[in-house]
Amino acid sequence: MVILIKNGIVVNAKSSEKADVLIENGKITRVESKIDLPTPDQLIDARNCYIFPGGIDPHVHMHLPTAAGFSADDFLTGSRAALYGGTTTLIDFVTPAKGQLLAEAIEERKKEANNCLTNYSLHVSPVEWRENMATEIENCFQEYGLKSFKVYMAYKDSIGLDDEDLRKVMAAVSMAGGMVTVHSELGDEIEDLRSKFASGGKTSPKYHPLSRPAELEAEAVKKAIALAKETNCSLYIVHVSSKESLNHIGKAQKEGQNVIAETCPQYLLLDDKKYNGSFTETAPFVMSPPLREHADNQALWQAIANGTVKTIGTDHCPFSLQQKMKGENDFRKIPNGAGGVEHRLALLYTFGVLKDKISLNKFVEITSTNAARIFGMYPRKGKIAVGSDADILIWDPKKENTISTSSHHQNCDLNIYEGIKTKGAPKHLILKGKIVLKENQLLADAESGEFLKTNSL
Ligand code: URP
Ligand code: ZN
Ligand code: ZN
Repeated sequence: MVILIKNGIVVNAKSSEKADVLIENGKITRVESKIDLPTPDQLIDARNCYIFPGGIDPHVHMHLPTAAGFSADDFLTGSRAALYGGTTTLIDFVTPAKGQLLAEAIEERKKEANNCLTNYSLHVSPVEWRENMATEIENCFQEYGLKSFKVYMAYKDSIGLDDEDLRKVMAAVSMAGGMVTVHSELGDEIEDLRSKFASGGKTSPKYHPLSRPAELEAEAVKKAIALAKETNCSLYIVHVSSKESLNHIGKAQKEGQNVIAETCPQYLLLDDKKYNGSFTETAPFVMSPPLREHADNQALWQAIANGTVKTIGTDHCPFSLQQKMKGENDFRKIPNGAGGVEHRLALLYTFGVLKDKISLNKFVEITSTNAARIFGMYPRKGKIAVGSDADILIWDPKKENTISTSSHHQNCDLNIYEGIKTKGAPKHLILKGKIVLKENQLLADAESGEFLKTNSL
């Protein structure tokens, strides 16, 4: 299959140039100011469009088991929504049951991801420490090529680790040469606040943010940074939501520690006013960490611009209204999470690039290149260059949309961005050298699974 893209502007993390792009057998083979070929299999006219590396979302939870049932998108529906939004690679999680071998959990998760329409990779979560855990972690490298390990400092009653186990995991991952990614919130203190509110009859969703204050995120960030320093472990802090956390991260980075920060569109664009209202108005915004103040939104934009924050994941983890209703009488039972995998690029383009908060190159960096670098895919992914995989997004900067559950592709009757107007959208999308989205419509062979079963990175 030979595809020639003509007349577009190729945008990478460090450059923008008017160039044509040739794709042969899944790879980019030429990027030149003018390429003419008499008979390509497909010719794409990218006039007035940008050519970006396909989006990489480093933080999604498809088919996540919770007490309220599985998160609403599985790998098929979630990855379909991702393609509609211009994302060609997802990084999800392996969350073993207590006592389950990491390898066995990886095998199970890979089966669940078998129908994923995008490329995907996995972070592995040690949810406890046990005698052979260091060997199991090493085995994730050797057997599966997985080098990123996710730990939770919250959710102590299920998957969270205490400080001692966290230290052991970091030491083992450091020895093996990998990275620990961490959900930073102080679990015990949060649990105390949750119980205190609930036992005082304070059970509505507005107590969710009050039981998870920004200081408890920042204290957890500080602790994770200290443990990572002690164990010489590379650290990636997921879904950073607060200014206080950024202060600790910025300080560690200045001191030369390898601490990487991720945030999400919801922490840039929405704030805690969303928790004022009825249950059905507020429960969709129950996620952890919770939405913060407008000043935190601003600080996060600044942190992207100055390089403190390197990546934007979505933490895509949608639940239906019916699932959220499980916590109608007790906010602690509302499943935590919201969807967004489809909207990441359009939101960042509209509210980042078009509002002059970030450059077009920075947009590519935070939506694709940096995640590729951090998680070992670069330059195969995250770059439009000769030799790279042909995961390519052709972006129409003029196309306007209004986000709505009535038109989104996420499998959920809620959307935390409902009614938000965006400018800029995928026009065409190429995945591994094949066109999967044409005029923003998913092609039948992408849907039918022609690309399935081969997408594990
Ligand atoms: O509320 C959230 N973020 N749910 C998904 C799981 C997690 O903590 O990332
Ligand atoms: Zn989390
Ligand atoms: Zn998450």
